[in-house]
Amino acid sequence: MKKVFNLLLSGITIFSMVCCDSITPQDANLEHLQHAVEQTSLLLADAGQKGAIPRTIKPDGSTHYITGEKFDWTEGFFPGTCWYLYEFTKDAVWKDGAAKFQKLYEPHKDWSYHDVGFIFNCSYGNGYRLTGDEAFKQVMIDAANSLVGRFNPVVGAIKSWDVDKGWQATRGWTYPVIIDNMMNLELLFEVHLITGDRKYYDVAVAHANTTMANHFRDDYSSYHVIDYNPETGEAVRKHTAQGFSHESAWARGQAWGLYGYVMCYRYTKDKAYLDMVEKIANYIMHHPKMPEDNIPYWDYNAPDIPNAPRDVSAATITASALIELDAYIPGKYYDYAAKLIDTLASPSYTATIGDNNYFILKHSVGSIPHKNEIDVPLNYADYYYIEALLRQRNRNTKNK
Ligand code: GLY
Repeated sequence: MKKVFNLLLSGITIFSMVCCDSITPQDANLEHLQHAVEQTSLLLADAGQKGAIPRTIKPDGSTHYITGEKFDWTEGFFPGTCWYLYEFTKDAVWKDGAAKFQKLYEPHKDWSYHDVGFIFNCSYGNGYRLTGDEAFKQVMIDAANSLVGRFNPVVGAIKSWDVDKGWQATRGWTYPVIIDNMMNLELLFEVHLITGDRKYYDVAVAHANTTMANHFRDDYSSYHVIDYNPETGEAVRKHTAQGFSHESAWARGQAWGLYGYVMCYRYTKDKAYLDMVEKIANYIMHHPKMPEDNIPYWDYNAPDIPNAPRDVSAATITASALIELDAYIPGKYYDYAAKLIDTLASPSYTATIGDNNYFILKHSVGSIPHKNEIDVPLNYADYYYIEALLRQRNRNTKNK
């Protein structure tokens, strides 16, 4: 009996050696993308029935849907995911889904909110890139104008939160700028390319430079919120909103900074941004509190490490940024990014088909200080994961 068992075991070992040896990185990437398509098809069907945009899972286990009535900074990510899956599959079902869901919040392009960059570039921006639809282009321009309207030349940055209402009114801030807002600059750079109007580029560069001057500590970790005096431009407070403490390093903030400066380098080719990227990457990749699988705790200074929740969304943003960085500094960051993607695709973080309310990834964190969205799927984790997979696929195709 033991002999039969041993024979079986060695057969399985030989089979898995042959089988695993034959799985190329290209095959693995394709498998991850196919899994993403299968799972997100179920989410698309559910969203279609609800007529709304999925964001996360609520504490009662139901899917949190966004209707477009109120502004929600995550509303662009699910349509953006649909655009990416249209790019991958060329199946019109994704294009139709993206166009239908982004329409729900289209009027928000004229609202004065810092996150219109995120929202309209991920959705309408990808839509315009893939279809050339002129109506999408106009929405992007309108949204960019709303964003530029929040720029104060004395500060040299776009204001993030308004401070006259909500929890933001309780913090004593006058002109808060958050590291997340580096991400909104992509819309401005794109609209500069579309229109040729230099003002969008100048505002984006000014914001990036002001952030570089004030948001980072000596070790290149980033503060979450810098509050400015709008009359003098002086940085008067260095705070957090979503991190553990003012002096801690909130994991997603570090990822936004990394991605933000890679993206700024893409459009400007300014070496100062690339130097910045390398310093932020070094902070993330070699942090002594980074777990072995490189999926960070929600804050690098969380007091309950190693029991603190992880933030998968931070890992997806980092992976996507590092794959892009490989185009500018070939070879140095790719292996780390590829390993991160494989970890994200493993059963520890990727849901089996039909589970996780049809989101792809598990274990992200929205905001622990606000006791909101802890250890849940998030639509932006899925968006940046698919973006990273597509970037990896393009890179591997080019390097073939
Ligand atoms: N404000 C975007 C975020 O929570 O990362």
